[in-house]
Amino acid sequence: MRVLSGIQSSGMVHLGNYFGALMNWVKLQNEGHDCFYFIANLHSMTQSYDPALLKKRTLELTATLIAIGIDPEKSTLFIQSDVSEHSELAWILSCLAPLGEMERMIQFKEKSAQSPESVNAALLLYPVLQSADILLYRPDLVPVGIDQAQHLELTRNLVRKFNKRFNTEYFKEPQTFHTETVKVVGLDGTAKMSKSRDNFIGLVEEPEIIKKKLRTAATDPARVRRDDPGNPDICNVFSLHKLISSAKDQAWSEKGCRTAEIGCLDCKGRLFENLMQLLDPIRERYKELMEKPGLLHEYLDLGAQKAKKEAQKTLEKVHELIGISR
Ligand code: ADP
Ligand code: TRP
Repeated sequence: MRVLSGIQSSGMVHLGNYFGALMNWVKLQNEGHDCFYFIANLHSMTQSYDPALLKKRTLELTATLIAIGIDPEKSTLFIQSDVSEHSELAWILSCLAPLGEMERMIQFKEKSAQSPESVNAALLLYPVLQSADILLYRPDLVPVGIDQAQHLELTRNLVRKFNKRFNTEYFKEPQTFHTETVKVVGLDGTAKMSKSRDNFIGLVEEPEIIKKKLRTAATDPARVRRDDPGNPDICNVFSLHKLISSAKDQAWSEKGCRTAEIGCLDCKGRLFENLMQLLDPIRERYKELMEKPGLLHEYLDLGAQKAKKEAQKTLEKVHELIGISR
């Protein structure tokens, strides 16, 4: 099967990204599918940004993706802006995109409400560019987190519109592929874990920083004192145990919390140890890779070449279908 997905280079990759989407990128790759994964740096431009930082983060994200297991020799790993066909197909699709539907996109409404003074047209077109990213590679599956489901729905709608308008069956409707973890809650215990709120645990963050963040992370508010029993079902630290810890440690945490045999600090300490077992090798590999920017660029060049070949094929066919070939 053909698989495609992308991630913005707007900050450090966190546990929400990993358990919500990236885990599946690695899984699908290792099952032997034909995977295209890219860094959506053009999407990151829809919000105010610093050019030097965008460049830096793009390389850091490349290293992070490789560190979690994306193998640039198995998967096609590339940067969106290296394949100019993305922007071109986005224009073509924007001629079919219904304005009303674009204005109803949840992410557009949320982001424009966050900073109403700086709503640009690209924020509205964001999901059209995403549809172009996808359709250029005509994938069967798109592994993303649940918050992207509406954008995938628009993509399928654009497929139907395109095929009908140009009397073809060229594009097929891609399916969304979610992980079991629908939403990872942030350390504040209320909102989803997100780069834009300071409530995340970064995959390659230093252990000391993670330890500090965990120390102040929200737990069941009923546990004011050490011997107050708690309810793990509403505790965010326990929800992280469920993602990371063994069944034995989960049982220890659950029972200890309900009976107040353990305190929140004990529970967080165990979570930290288990988290480090997952993150230590990722962080080490990341650091090694960041010392070899030349190698990272070689991987990205290789990916761009492979992606461009595929994208050009699609766009050539699209030009023919829509009447702009000669
Ligand atoms: P962020 O919201 O932190 O800016 P992105 O929008 O770049 O993250 O998301 C990258 C991928 O990770 C998407 O597929 C998204 O659905 C998923 N994702 C992001 N945050 C979470 C979360 N807290 N829980 C589950 N999945 C998430
Ligand atoms: N919008 C996605 C996100 O914020 C990133 C993205 C851009 C993407 N283009 C894509 C995801 C194409 C899947 C397919 O996470």
